[in-house]
Amino acid sequence: MSSHSFSPFSLVLLLSLSSCATSVDVPAGYVSSPYYPAPHGGWSPDWTESYRKASLLVSNMTLAEKTNVTSGTGIYMGRCVGNSGSAPRAGFPQLCLQDGPLGVRNSDHNTAFPAGITVGATFDKDLMHARGVAIGEEFRGKGVNVHLGPSVGPLGRRPRGGRNWEGFGADPVLQAFGGSRTVEGIQSVGVIATIKHLIANEQEKYRMYNLAQDGISSNLDDRTLHELYLWPFAEAVRSGVGSVMMAYNAVNGSACSQNSYLINNLLKDELGFQGFVMSDWLAQITGVASALSGLDMTMPGDIHTIPLFGSSYWMYEYSRSVLNGSIPVDRLNDAVTRIVATWFQMGQDSASYPKPNFDSNTLDAEGPLFPGSLFSPKGVVNEFVDVQGNHAVVARDIARDAITLLKNTNDILPLAKTAKLKVFGTDAEKNPDGINSCTDMGCDKGTLGMGWGSGSARYPYVDSPIDGFKSRGANYTFFNTDSFPSNSVPTAGDIAVVFVNADSGENYITVENNPGDRTDSNLNLWHNGDKLIQDVAAKYTDVVVIVHTVGPILLEAWHDLPAVKAVLFAHLPGQEAGESLMQIIFGDVSPSGHLPYTIPKSEDNYPDSLDLIGFELGQPQDTFTEGLYIDYRHFHKANITPRYAFGHGLSYTTFSFSKATITPVTTLTTLPPARAAKGSTMVYSTAIPAAAEAYWPANFPNRIWRYLYSWLEKADADNAAADLKAGKTYPYPTGYSNAQTAGPAAGGAQGGNPALFDVAYTISVTVTNTGKATGRAVAQLYVQYPTDLAVDTPVIQLRDFVKTSALAAGASEVVKLRVTRKDMSVWDTVKQNWVVPSVDGDYGIWVGAASDALALRCGTAAKTCAEGVKSPV
Ligand SMILES: *[C@@H]1O[C@H](CO)[C@@H](O)[C@H](O)[C@H]1NC(C)=O
Ligand SMILES: *[C@@H]1O[C@H](CO)[C@@H](O)[C@H](O)[C@H]1NC(C)=O
Ligand SMILES: *[C@@H]1O[C@H](CO)[C@@H](O)[C@H](O)[C@H]1NC(C)=O
Ligand SMILES: *[C@@H]1O[C@H](CO)[C@@H](O)[C@H](O)[C@H]1NC(C)=O
Ligand SMILES: *[C@@H]1O[C@H](CO)[C@@H](O)[C@H](O)[C@H]1NC(C)=O
Repeated sequence: MSSHSFSPFSLVLLLSLSSCATSVDVPAGYVSSPYYPAPHGGWSPDWTESYRKASLLVSNMTLAEKTNVTSGTGIYMGRCVGNSGSAPRAGFPQLCLQDGPLGVRNSDHNTAFPAGITVGATFDKDLMHARGVAIGEEFRGKGVNVHLGPSVGPLGRRPRGGRNWEGFGADPVLQAFGGSRTVEGIQSVGVIATIKHLIANEQEKYRMYNLAQDGISSNLDDRTLHELYLWPFAEAVRSGVGSVMMAYNAVNGSACSQNSYLINNLLKDELGFQGFVMSDWLAQITGVASALSGLDMTMPGDIHTIPLFGSSYWMYEYSRSVLNGSIPVDRLNDAVTRIVATWFQMGQDSASYPKPNFDSNTLDAEGPLFPGSLFSPKGVVNEFVDVQGNHAVVARDIARDAITLLKNTNDILPLAKTAKLKVFGTDAEKNPDGINSCTDMGCDKGTLGMGWGSGSARYPYVDSPIDGFKSRGANYTFFNTDSFPSNSVPTAGDIAVVFVNADSGENYITVENNPGDRTDSNLNLWHNGDKLIQDVAAKYTDVVVIVHTVGPILLEAWHDLPAVKAVLFAHLPGQEAGESLMQIIFGDVSPSGHLPYTIPKSEDNYPDSLDLIGFELGQPQDTFTEGLYIDYRHFHKANITPRYAFGHGLSYTTFSFSKATITPVTTLTTLPPARAAKGSTMVYSTAIPAAAEAYWPANFPNRIWRYLYSWLEKADADNAAADLKAGKTYPYPTGYSNAQTAGPAAGGAQGGNPALFDVAYTISVTVTNTGKATGRAVAQLYVQYPTDLAVDTPVIQLRDFVKTSALAAGASEVVKLRVTRKDMSVWDTVKQNWVVPSVDGDYGIWVGAASDALALRCGTAAKTCAEGVKSPV
């Protein structure tokens, strides 16, 4: 979500640039086909009881109550970033929706957890889950019903994309485990998680529709969508996620918030999603069309062009659209039932579920209850409930276990306790203006713990690297500057530690000329970090570089300088930047993080289609011509050796992978076994309600100015009913139908046909610590499709991973990994199903420590494994 970024100047800009820009349309062939009607929810057995309860409530609701529940009450019209309308008479409360993926945004006494990209770098499924539980506890403690996270889209296609850091890394399977484990953790404590942003929102600039311009269109083919971008969403749905947020951008020219192919077909039918679909903030651009396309809730409720003035596409307009017959009652009933059922599914009907006790709009104890209204009653809005519990522990564990050691010449790390340190770079210490001095972290000052935008949270404190050195009693001198200080004089035995960073964020804030995406900084370090490292390396013989970063950066300016002995990526650690790093650099714990993306040698390593899209007259077009070939998939295909490969990460010890076995579990067939039919869904009357169900109540007290209500003036409601009677009809889109369908072959349960997740093979591998220090290894499993296929497939693709426990020198652990039917399939765009392209073919199942460190191969044809094999890449 975002604050609205409404620019009255964009029209002027558009006109003034028109002479040097060409207008482009969605390229030929990219179309979003109509898919109607919106499939009913409630047919999945896991949700039966919640739908039953919901239907009792919904069948008692009036029209105005139902439409109220589907919409926010207006931007800044309540304590949370989103506040839905309620149906108090029927017993359904307002829901509080709140950002963001790494902690409760705009609040107090909350934990600022490590960002998604940091969690991805741990390659630790247990920590992914534990962080989800802790986040869930904090949102519940603040009285939030709906957590607006986790983010698995953007996927990280574009290395310079602004919000990649909110997700778990540039690979669908890493995103899938990160997202689904987080969802399971959050929902285990009764908070509704929201998987977002569906879909292909791979750059920040031009993402939104506004008066002057349509949002950017991501044009991509069906196979790429299924095998990359939709994959993590499928896993989150399989985990029972309660809510899905649609992205701002368009796909194939059709806005995601009203793209019937995406919502009705892919999400609700093929993936069998049972919860409710919401818009991103001000992403809804029509009323009737978005409802028919499957949108269930609009947030924050306002129209997208001029919010805050009490206008909505839904609320009173939804009531009107039902009365005039344009939106079938059936569609409204399904939308409301999905929302109410999700609330039951998480147990939020329990009396013990807390009410909101904080205010996203102010830090004061008292303030306006409806800040969006000029004349608002005031009251207590912040109760300062401390929800941190012992979550600092899991936050610190993640920050530590994500730290990725890229280079460690002569084993310079770990440092001796008595090492004489010269520390450089403003990134080593807290923002001197105050840790929360920039709204939504919209500045890059001091230790970089998170990117900026709605995915940020206020820090309760920052444990900075300098705090860490201090509390360790380390012998250090700190030069709090990004220019090499003339007063730094090396003495024999000194070790220089240089802190540098690279930031990005959400488009409504521009930081140092970067409008969310790294438009101006490119993939370079910020604040002349390259020069600082070069200058330090010119004077000191032993230099350790610590990088806090949102994603890949270029290391070439200094990586090979003889003085640069070690490079550590500490990613975005949140509040726990200090002690987590100390535990690694002083060797209490061996580093065990791995890169959740590839580090290139040059931006030219990437295909041109991954450049940021600049200004275009009309709707900007972003065509994914690289198809499946992003990140390591591209480097392998183009045969480019990166600076560091996806999955790379060193330790203070070494590991071997041996004694592998492969066990067939499910015998594969070209197509998966047929899906089961959908179960039954709720049946309601489809009669159009009486106009009176939408009338304003007589003498309604305390009407809040500009607040969004679902009632209509009597005359308006009567006119809508009269329009229907007079036979006025809505111009339904081509292909519109109101008859529920059986659903596609690829569906059948939450996440898709359950047979897709049948385990085809299990692989067991012995991981042995062959070095001198205790440490944890990550076994990464990549699948190489048979090489003689007619269909083009990436050389290798990550399909599973597992992190060992801490292994003492010489100790070993047997780890188990699995490959599912889906992991061995390709999406067949003609059959519209997952197809195993070669049932008896020889798939290579590779296990190793990184995508470029694979020497152990199990073959599915011979069902044997071999060690010391030449790596496929
Ligand atoms: C976009 O167009 C491509 C090419 O025709 C098609 O394969 C794909 O399914 C379309 N995607 C959506 C979401 O409509
Ligand atoms: C809801 O239930 C109450 C009590 O049974 C009943 O009086 C009322 O008419 C119902 N309302 C609707 C809209 O069904
Ligand atoms: C709609 O929700 C608001 C906010 O909770 C509430 O004040 C109003 O009474 C609701 N309207 C109906 C029809 O229940
Ligand atoms: C019904 O009302 C909606 C909302 O105002 C409007 O968009 C739609 O065009 C109306 N339908 C007809 C047939 O007039
Ligand atoms: C700290 O380092 C300085 C040189 O940088 C050295 O002179 C001093 O003895 C060291 N202090 C301790 C307590 O080791």
